[in-house]
Amino acid sequence: MEKFDTILILDFGGQYCHLIGRRIRDHHVYSEILPYDVTPTQIEAFREEFNVKGIILSGGPSSIYDDEAPKCNTEIFSLDFPILGLCYGHQLIASLFGGKIEAAEKREYGTSWAVVDRPNDLLKGLEKEQKVWMSHGDTVYQLPQSFEILAHTKNCPIAAFKHRKKPIYGLQWHPEVAHTEKGTLMIRNFIFEVCGCQPNWVMEDFAERAIEELRRIVGDRRCVIGLSGGVDSSTATVLAFKAVGKNLTAVFVDHGFIREGEPESIKKFFKKIDISFITVNARGRFLRRLKGVTDPEQKRKLVGQEFIRVFEEVAAEVGADYLVQGTIYPDRIESGFRKHSAKIKTHHNVGGLPTNIDFEDIVEPLKDLYKDEVRKIAEQLGLPKEIVHRQPFPGPGLAVRVIGEVTPERIDLVRQVDKIVTEEIEASGLSEELWQYFAVLTDTKTTGVKGDARSYGHTVAVRALESREAMTASFAEVSYEILERISTRITNEIPEVTRVVYDITHKPPATIEWE
Ligand code: XMP
Repeated sequence: MEKFDTILILDFGGQYCHLIGRRIRDHHVYSEILPYDVTPTQIEAFREEFNVKGIILSGGPSSIYDDEAPKCNTEIFSLDFPILGLCYGHQLIASLFGGKIEAAEKREYGTSWAVVDRPNDLLKGLEKEQKVWMSHGDTVYQLPQSFEILAHTKNCPIAAFKHRKKPIYGLQWHPEVAHTEKGTLMIRNFIFEVCGCQPNWVMEDFAERAIEELRRIVGDRRCVIGLSGGVDSSTATVLAFKAVGKNLTAVFVDHGFIREGEPESIKKFFKKIDISFITVNARGRFLRRLKGVTDPEQKRKLVGQEFIRVFEEVAAEVGADYLVQGTIYPDRIESGFRKHSAKIKTHHNVGGLPTNIDFEDIVEPLKDLYKDEVRKIAEQLGLPKEIVHRQPFPGPGLAVRVIGEVTPERIDLVRQVDKIVTEEIEASGLSEELWQYFAVLTDTKTTGVKGDARSYGHTVAVRALESREAMTASFAEVSYEILERISTRITNEIPEVTRVVYDITHKPPATIEWE
């Protein structure tokens, strides 16, 4: 099989790591994020599947003088790949080669003007004074003889450098963020001019290759897939169906915490393509498991465990040898592949599912893709628009959008509110621009006045966000007019609600879901 030209990104904990990966893929070059201390042997193993052409050392929150400062394996500098350090990566390279780094006299945060002293291959095409985006406390003040300075700013004498003999570069600024003008050009210069990549990571033939690979692995054996109706599992289901046909059983587990209208809409589409599709009504058993539970992580864990049980029962019934999963690239990174990232919350469909089930293998055809890449494949496969652009929905569903105990009444309440939010956002034409929009039932009750009488009811929160891959997100600037319509409808149509609030927190510091 053709190997894709690839840029490896070593992750030093920077919040822009995925952004670097995305920017590279935007130019049809594959990127993979690896732990910062990956060894040359591990890189060698990786080369069996991918054609590694260059390495980027990401930014990160540490100072190279911290006791625990992450350092890369220095042997990577003896490999033949071009290497580019960004921010912390820039300082780390300078330090490892014997340069002098100190706390900056003046911390630079935000826009700076870089004066380009040498517009070489990496900085080709830039203005003499270039607007860049910086965020650093330490600064490189001196470089060893083997390096030359490429650019400086007012507060940073060595803002870009290059090794005189080897293709090793550093940029103190962040070319991956939109505020760095011509940042895209800098990334293009690195991947194409310096690393010589071919733009061969294209989605056009991905489906064909994935189907072939599935067929090769599964052969004529049986497999099952957990189908939630989201774009990832739906796309994986169609790929698997195209690969093995009737030997695939898609299982929709109805835990009772689903949105209005599901699973009817999912069934409608999958019935059309004549797939073996089972719906398991497991509402009662999930509610029983969650009785009295208020801790968010405990809720997630219990839903995950119960899901596994239901799934095991079905898998045993249909005699499946293989499990197909719709895991995508960020899931893989979040679930521990990324060594130094803290676990934020347990995503129930990532970690747990296969542990207790005796499958011959787990096949994850979308494991290298970001969600927008999955959406492209879904479109090519002819999935309906409502699935392609469906909002992500957490595995534990509305159970994590009810703060406090999960009861049928509270689930029903949040479902009704969610329906109004969805209808109004869709009617306003905003839905395609937004990553997610939904309602949360808080555990706060407040006083209101309805029909001249005092009422004491629930507070619900409305959340709407813009994001590209959910690792970071901004609350959406939904107009007051739309928010007012949503709020009026909720308080008019749902008597138990007295107050509606709009969540104006980005991720980070908040997460997207409240629990
Ligand atoms: P957080 O709340 O972690 O969510 O910022 C990031 C994205 O993931 C979705 N989400 C989940 N998806 N299983 C999933 O498949 C889960 O358990 C889960 N929890 C959160 C969330 O809706 C957002 O898009």
